[in-house]
Amino acid sequence: MIITFATQKGGAGKTTLAIAFANYLALQKKEIHVFDFDFQKSFYNKWMEDEDLNLPKLYEVQISEDNQAPFSDFETLMKMKSDEAVYLFDLAGTLDMKYTDILQYSDFIIIPFEYSDISTKSTLVFINFLGLLESEAGKIFIRSRYEKNFEYPNKPMMDEEISRFGKLISQPVLKRNILQKINTRSLKGHQRLAVKDVFSEVVEHIEKASKEK
Ligand SMILES: Nc1ncnc2c1ncn2[C@@H]1O[C@H](COP(=O)(O)OP(=O)(O)O)[C@@H](O)[C@H]1O
Ligand SMILES: [Mg+2]
Repeated sequence: MIITFATQKGGAGKTTLAIAFANYLALQKKEIHVFDFDFQKSFYNKWMEDEDLNLPKLYEVQISEDNQAPFSDFETLMKMKSDEAVYLFDLAGTLDMKYTDILQYSDFIIIPFEYSDISTKSTLVFINFLGLLESEAGKIFIRSRYEKNFEYPNKPMMDEEISRFGKLISQPVLKRNILQKINTRSLKGHQRLAVKDVFSEVVEHIEKASKEK
């Protein structure tokens, strides 16, 4: 199965949530293969740095060479889709044509978003982009870096709009300093607590949607 973390906005929480989700699944004994296709290589660099922690690797992380299109090889892509293992992609916050294949053929695209004016706009642009690509991926939206006691004026409009395109996860990922310290080898107590309700809802949705396909 291919699960991709993407949205057309830097700083939305893609890499943080991709790391947390990869760890979460790996710690449940799922086989995970990570592909970092962001030219900034944040996921990959973190994973390399974390060698120093002397903890066992939960998964391998690969990068795309020389800014090449991730897949010239369609067969590989189809194999990943039908495999039991999870192939997890972390993309950059740009609408690059080199991402076309992966966005089109992902089984699920996980889209972290915030309710600020700028994030709202880029999330809607990204949804349109997926529409133009005729991506058949299931879209899963996660409220990211969410502040519980804040009133977001864009929330009612965004929630309604988003729900027309995909699954809006009911629990948010709150803004938490502990999530800034995430590593690729573990998911510590408070970090796990910060994402576990969200991710169990995501997994439940993925299982249900995959059965209906
Ligand atoms: N839930 C959160 N709470 C606090 N900080 C967060 C949270 N999610 C992400 N961040 C921080 O926000 C910044 C951008 O997150 P990142 O995951 O790199 O976004 P992206 O990959 O979309 O560019 C990072 O400094 C990260 O530590
Ligand atoms: Mg990133």
